[in-house]
Amino acid sequence: MTQRSLKLGAVLLGVGGPGQHNTWLSPEIPGNASVDIRWYIARAQEAEAAKFDHVFIVDSQFITPDSPNHYLNRLEPLTLLSAVAVHTSHIGLVGTLTTSYNDPYNLARRLASLDLISGGRAGWNVVATGDGGTAGNYGRDEHYDYATRYGRALEHVRVAQVLWDSYEDDAFPRDKERGVFFDRSRQHALNHVGEHFSVVGPLNIERSPQGQPVIFQAGDSEEGRDLGASIADAIFTHAQTIEQGQAFRRDLRSRAAAKGRDPEQVLIVPGISLIIADTDEQAREKERQVLGSKSFDRALAELGRPFGWHDFSQYDLDAPFPELGDLGDRSFKTQAEKIKKLARDNDYTLRQVVEHQLQQHRSPFVGSPVTVANEIQRWYEAGAFDGINISITVPSEFARFTDQVLPILRERGVVRSEYEATTLRGNLGLPIPENVHTAARNAAPAPASDAGRPAPALVP
Ligand SMILES: Cc1cc2nc3c(=O)[nH]c(=O)nc-3n(C[C@H](O)[C@H](O)[C@H](O)COP(=O)(O)O)c2cc1C
Repeated sequence: MTQRSLKLGAVLLGVGGPGQHNTWLSPEIPGNASVDIRWYIARAQEAEAAKFDHVFIVDSQFITPDSPNHYLNRLEPLTLLSAVAVHTSHIGLVGTLTTSYNDPYNLARRLASLDLISGGRAGWNVVATGDGGTAGNYGRDEHYDYATRYGRALEHVRVAQVLWDSYEDDAFPRDKERGVFFDRSRQHALNHVGEHFSVVGPLNIERSPQGQPVIFQAGDSEEGRDLGASIADAIFTHAQTIEQGQAFRRDLRSRAAAKGRDPEQVLIVPGISLIIADTDEQAREKERQVLGSKSFDRALAELGRPFGWHDFSQYDLDAPFPELGDLGDRSFKTQAEKIKKLARDNDYTLRQVVEHQLQQHRSPFVGSPVTVANEIQRWYEAGAFDGINISITVPSEFARFTDQVLPILRERGVVRSEYEATTLRGNLGLPIPENVHTAARNAAPAPASDAGRPAPALVP
């Protein structure tokens, strides 16, 4: 495999995600950015011009009046990415879709459609839904517990992957002279009956030039890490320090190796925030302004999200952090537990916890273009990540990265100068998965017709 470069992803957050409540006030951001397809297309084209690997669309399906501005009113990921696909040619298109409130057949079909529309550039960020309230939008009283959530997720992805192999690559001769449209020996049903899903198949769409969409995954619990190690080509995470990044990457790579996978084919791609100015001092001043403009009340409201949007305004701010029992266990459990532990270990009041959360948004990537380039290179070379996801909100801030930081990294050979391929797999340096039916035939010479051959078992 050729030497990989640092992978670059752009998270398109329109009018601003968590902790970005004032972002939409920028004169550069139209008030309707999150629902204006032209905004997404323009940002994706800028990222493509800078040779980014992918744009990344986060998503959720439960909101309250306290939700971040972008979450309140935004486009559905695959719909918007299909439109972006026809205005771009090389950049990957990664959409977040939950395995908790989708069925594999429908989801595999929609992703395969995006993969064909884009010529092999689709990616799926597999999530199990952190917002417990989503249950109420899908006829359930309660969100699934963790074991069910992650059990569904693993089975869901495995089923989707076999559905994507319903047709072998030579299934459609489309030979008009001979009148042969399709070779029925190359179509395969699934007949899957599992713990969470029953799917007969086959899927009614062929494979794209990259074979199957790239699997991204996000989830930080034991169960989440195990899922990522089992199925993910790339893992979306957060890292506050270089040591945390190294530890996470080591952990995921060794989990993947223990499952018989090549760790080189599991890329760790955390989201990082950047503050870039002409000098380090100006960048630090900019950071002080950004942090200073964050509202305590907003942060207090957002503290509720990991706990199923629990209302923390009901408590005395200066009393010890409230006893919450198992609240959060069916939402963002890992985050909720971290917050409870922080309060317990430090005897924090509620106010101190909120203040700590506000400070937590400090980024290690603050400074002049050279400082930021040095820091990114240092983390990358120390094995803290294989790539980075950067939020795009204010276009001129993004341009500082593409026009001032990337040329330095390009000069040093850390990032690419040109795309290597037109598919997302090709650009990420990931192999095209061989169709399981073709592989089975190649491994053991098949009889004259393989009709009736049992479908390959799902790999656990
Ligand atoms: C970096 C990161 C990004 C995530 N993005 C999303 C998202 O866009 N939509 C979503 O529903 N859940 C998202 N999740 C939530 C996970 O899918 C999961 O349900 C949640 O984190 C709780 O699981 P955990 O305790 O394993 O982290 C994200 C999690 C992480 C760590």
